[in-house]
Amino acid sequence: MAFEKNILCIGAGYVGGPTMAVIAAKCPQYKVVVVDVDKEKIKAWNSDHLPIYEPGLDELVEKTRNRNLFFSADNAKGIEEAEIIFVSVNTPTKTFGHGAGKAADLQYWEKTAREILAHSKSSKIVVEKSTLPVRTASAMERILNENSKSIHFEVVSNPEFLAEGTAIQDLESPDRVLIGSRESPEGIKARKAIVEIYAHWVPRERIIQSNVWSSELSKLTANAFLAQRISSINSISALCEKTEADIDEVAHAIGMDSRIGPKFLKASVGFGGSCFKKDILNLVYICDSYGLEKVARYWEAVVEINEWQESRFIQNMLENMFSTVAGKRIALFGFAFKANTGDTRESPAIYVAQGLLAEKAEVVITDPKALKNARKDLKDFKKRVIFEADPYKAAKGAHAVAVLTEWDVYRDLDYRRILKSMVQPAFLFDGRNILDHKKLFEMGYNVFAIGKAPLKHF
Ligand code: UDX
Ligand code: UDX
Repeated sequence: MAFEKNILCIGAGYVGGPTMAVIAAKCPQYKVVVVDVDKEKIKAWNSDHLPIYEPGLDELVEKTRNRNLFFSADNAKGIEEAEIIFVSVNTPTKTFGHGAGKAADLQYWEKTAREILAHSKSSKIVVEKSTLPVRTASAMERILNENSKSIHFEVVSNPEFLAEGTAIQDLESPDRVLIGSRESPEGIKARKAIVEIYAHWVPRERIIQSNVWSSELSKLTANAFLAQRISSINSISALCEKTEADIDEVAHAIGMDSRIGPKFLKASVGFGGSCFKKDILNLVYICDSYGLEKVARYWEAVVEINEWQESRFIQNMLENMFSTVAGKRIALFGFAFKANTGDTRESPAIYVAQGLLAEKAEVVITDPKALKNARKDLKDFKKRVIFEADPYKAAKGAHAVAVLTEWDVYRDLDYRRILKSMVQPAFLFDGRNILDHKKLFEMGYNVFAIGKAPLKHF
């Protein structure tokens, strides 16, 4: 059967993989090919053990793979055949040179643009899926269109708003899809071609069209606003701990105001993930480079509060455990940056583990999906960290348990059994406020939650 359209995605990561699986499932008439520089990753996508964990993804890939969804290592062929190319390679924070620590590192993006140019024999639409600094499309257009092949590339921005752990759900019924392009006739035509893909399953009124710069900037802004809510509620959690106000009660009360709303108001040990910190710092860098110093410092503070919240958590553990954790076994329940993912990028657990190790604690890490990544993150401390899949074994002989990821399994453990196996007095630090603190206190634990008065027996 001939396919109606050929779509290619460069970058088979957390965004590219799930997004293409959903497009392939919703549009069986399109051929969707995914390529990646990492050949091992492509092999994994073609096996029974997908390289990422995402609820619902296995079933979707099983249904579509080798029907109209293909994972391939042949970038050249993929590029040549495709009419539409999504680019979803990573754009990490620059670690060197000008803008180090803030600006986005666009080397992979530029390399990808040149690769597209090298293998193209016909005009194509190139879609920015990765989060990019505003005005990147203009640089990309210049690289792509200064060619002697007399072919034309239209660069369209279609930022991804999926959250890990709910990626399939977010893709299948998104709040909105955003598509930005140049406002020239060719730009509008390219934009419409991308709208047509999503219109197969997304109601038209949820597909927003805009100019390409608004689209690029909206992605950075959306993440900055979401992260700002968490930093705002976390800043108030510190005040609650001093005043006997309860952060969950405060969040509930303010969230009922429809102008504020209940979402993203859960106080925590801090936000993590591949996007928030990177995107805010990128926004800070862009503001600075336009001379908007005040705006830059405003957003920078969102990241600073997050770092402060993480270090406050470690400090609180230390102070309450008689000012020393040296030689004490501490079990960390959860290492992923949030539940339902194995991803640990920028996870607050990394900072907490490193902080405790610096205090010479013996750290035991347990997590249902993230132990493999945790091993990589803490490879420098190999000898002093234990990785244990079973939370009961992890807590055995521990002075303290700290909940760092809101996995459901940690809500329902037998905490009486755990208490008996721990060193007394036993400490419980709930960095996600998911446990029944009063009940655990009555059982005998000393309980410390985020934004709540401590419950201690001494
Ligand atoms: C990516 C971007 O990092 C992020 O800015 C954007 O918002 C969404 O897309 P993610 O999918 O989570 O995020 O990144 P990752 O899982 O690291 O996937 C990127 C993939 O691109 C990797 O598999 C990497 O091997 C691949 N890649 C990278 C290429 O194929 N070519 C390159 O030149 C560089
Ligand atoms: C985020 C955005 O939500 C998504 O739209 C964007 O495309 C990519 O970045 P993601 O990083 O996958 O998605 O996770 P998200 O659910 O936003 O959580 C980010 C962090 O904030 C996690 O560490 C989470 O635990 C934390 N968080 C979230 C809180 O601490 N409190 C909350 O109320 C919500």
